[in-house]
Amino acid sequence: MAEKDFIVTPWEVVGDVDYTELVKRFGTQEIDEALLARIKKHAPLHYMLRRKIFFSHRDLDWVLGEYEKGNKFFLYTGRGPSDDTHLGHLVPWIFTKYLQDSFGSKLYFQMTDDEKFLFKEKLSREETHSLAYENALDVIALGFDSKKTMIFADTDVIDFLYPHALEVAKKVTFSTAKAVFGFTNETNIGGIFFTSIQSVPAFIESIKQKKPVPCLIPHAIDQDPHFRITRDVAPKIGFPKPSSIHCKFLPSLKGSGKMSSSGSPDSMIYTTDSPEEVERKIMSAFTGGRDTIEEQKRLGGRPEICPIFSYYTFLFETDDEKLKEIEQQCRSGKLMCGEDKARLCERVKKFLAEHQKNREAARKQLSKFMAKKI
Ligand code: TRP
Repeated sequence: MAEKDFIVTPWEVVGDVDYTELVKRFGTQEIDEALLARIKKHAPLHYMLRRKIFFSHRDLDWVLGEYEKGNKFFLYTGRGPSDDTHLGHLVPWIFTKYLQDSFGSKLYFQMTDDEKFLFKEKLSREETHSLAYENALDVIALGFDSKKTMIFADTDVIDFLYPHALEVAKKVTFSTAKAVFGFTNETNIGGIFFTSIQSVPAFIESIKQKKPVPCLIPHAIDQDPHFRITRDVAPKIGFPKPSSIHCKFLPSLKGSGKMSSSGSPDSMIYTTDSPEEVERKIMSAFTGGRDTIEEQKRLGGRPEICPIFSYYTFLFETDDEKLKEIEQQCRSGKLMCGEDKARLCERVKKFLAEHQKNREAARKQLSKFMAKKI
């Protein structure tokens, strides 16, 4: 891989992602000013839209047009339960809650315990199934409306999913799956079939209401290959193509090119981390700072390559003015990395204390959210 190159697939994110280039590779659309203005007619612009954390889409204009005609869309998103939840996972979920609150949408949340069993050598079915329930606690803790939200683990509701997955699978050839996902002869055959299971929730409301119902899928951009297939197949089996809106990845605390939780556990903060772990991970994180205090004062820091600054941007400073202030202080060399990190530590610890409380309280709500039947 060349120095500046990167890979983004649903199972792997490697290198420094150039998002402008990725939009070209995937063939999605950037969210432009006109589209932002259109969203603003219906809801205050979320900071993730203002900051282009959610930056790309497919047919978002279409789904908004339907909404404007009184044809409401439902939301669909999901999680592959392979590990504890980390702060990066919360980014699209927080945004999904904003969409639910703003547009009054129903939400289906898929936990792909089947996928993670198939793709993770070391995980058993029991483990991925129980992780689905552990991860669901983090979803519930964010405050989703239980009357409008259904979370499900694939293996719990497979009786509903399977017939429709068959319809999808019949329209997807092995050569398409190979081209889209990079499968080889060594890929297990469950993995090859799996994408048809991830398609089905985009059709749930159409199936239930026996008429075409628009669907909007908020997700991190790495999942786009699945939904490219879903969109290709949908009209062939009598469903509308789902629209989607895509976010960037919260960068690794270890610096660029070392993305994702499959890397070192210190590259991400998990929602179950103790205050001591938070402190250790943040204080030992990579920054955009200079080698010496003298250089930092003279040259200033580099927020554009700094994961600490990204943590503020993605999650921990939602006020644009205050974020700009942090950026200016950093660039001008007034702010030292130690101080910047210490402040972030306090915010993350405070957030996690609250989140962990809500997460425990969510255990009692699990049965309200987790469906055994669709
Ligand atoms: N495959 C996703 C993952 O590994 C989980 C998932 C299923 C998903 N359906 C989704 C993610 C819809 C976003 C939107 O994380």
